[in-house]
Amino acid sequence: MLVSEIPALRAYWYPVAYAADVGDAPVRAVLFGEGIAVWRDAGGVAQAAIDECPHRGARLSQGWIDEGCIVCPYHGWTFAGDGSCRRIPQQAPGAVVPPRARSAPVHADERYGLVWLCLAEEPRAAVPVLPELEDPAFTLVHELMEEWRVPAPRCTDNALDVSHLSFVHRNTVGDPDQPRLSDVTVTREGTRIEFTSSYTARVSEQMRRNTGLTGETTTRTTRGELVQPLVFRGVLEYENGLRHVLYKTAAPIDDDRTLFCQFVARNDAPDEERRASMISIDRAVQAEDKALLEGLGSEFPVDIDTEVHTRADRVTLEYRKVLAELAAETGGGRPDAAWHRYARRR
Ligand code: FES
Repeated sequence: MLVSEIPALRAYWYPVAYAADVGDAPVRAVLFGEGIAVWRDAGGVAQAAIDECPHRGARLSQGWIDEGCIVCPYHGWTFAGDGSCRRIPQQAPGAVVPPRARSAPVHADERYGLVWLCLAEEPRAAVPVLPELEDPAFTLVHELMEEWRVPAPRCTDNALDVSHLSFVHRNTVGDPDQPRLSDVTVTREGTRIEFTSSYTARVSEQMRRNTGLTGETTTRTTRGELVQPLVFRGVLEYENGLRHVLYKTAAPIDDDRTLFCQFVARNDAPDEERRASMISIDRAVQAEDKALLEGLGSEFPVDIDTEVHTRADRVTLEYRKVLAELAAETGGGRPDAAWHRYARRR
């Protein structure tokens, strides 16, 4: 199934830029194939609109900001965050602004140093509240935001798939001699999936410096959560009490491409050196995922008969069901009879 065949995904929130990068000039984002202009109003609040001027279709993001409004670069029509046209420079003072001279606003919000957008008129949820980032005991570290030639659900599926670590990450954190997971539990409520699993991870010299661990390997427990259909939270707990909480968001650019973003919360107040080391390790790990995932196709099967599954795939099977149900809600793909058999077996 393609991203565009699950219209319900448009009603969730996605980070499209670092907040610090939305400054004095508009920024262009692309979400579900739609160009969106993002800027700040006079109060510094993030605003967004479809990146197409209602006059002759110019990109608003190529314009500039004037007193918190976005100015189209073609003929200077000026739009506020609510879509109203505040100025048509070619008109005489007092002339009536045509009622259809409105930009198309998009929901925008700012949280955790990121600008989040939701394309739907009625969001199905609020911007995710990420508990560790509301807790002053944790430090936020942004690690990467980059375009991947991977359909967004595959990025999230990969985050939920702990069993790939031993192999895809055999040169960084995985141990191919210890592929089995233990203590796996999976629960689901609506679109939210929660799971836990424990496994043996290798500890490189760089990781030892970064985490304070001392051995060659460690037992790592992951408590993972599908926060929204393309937002993942993974709490990695180490034996020494360290918590390394990974957040991975997959903003669909279109059916084939994703703006992948990863950020971390840590409870060890990492200094600059430790942060740099953490970013370096996690980027290396994500580069391994990216290389693997970019070899897969655009279609993400949500029926259970296309692929082969084992008990180790319970979490990612549940994810397929979430997407199948979302697609069915809006007339896309439908959970088939095989899904109902699977559901009864659980
Ligand atoms: Fe935008 Fe003319 S195209 S003002």
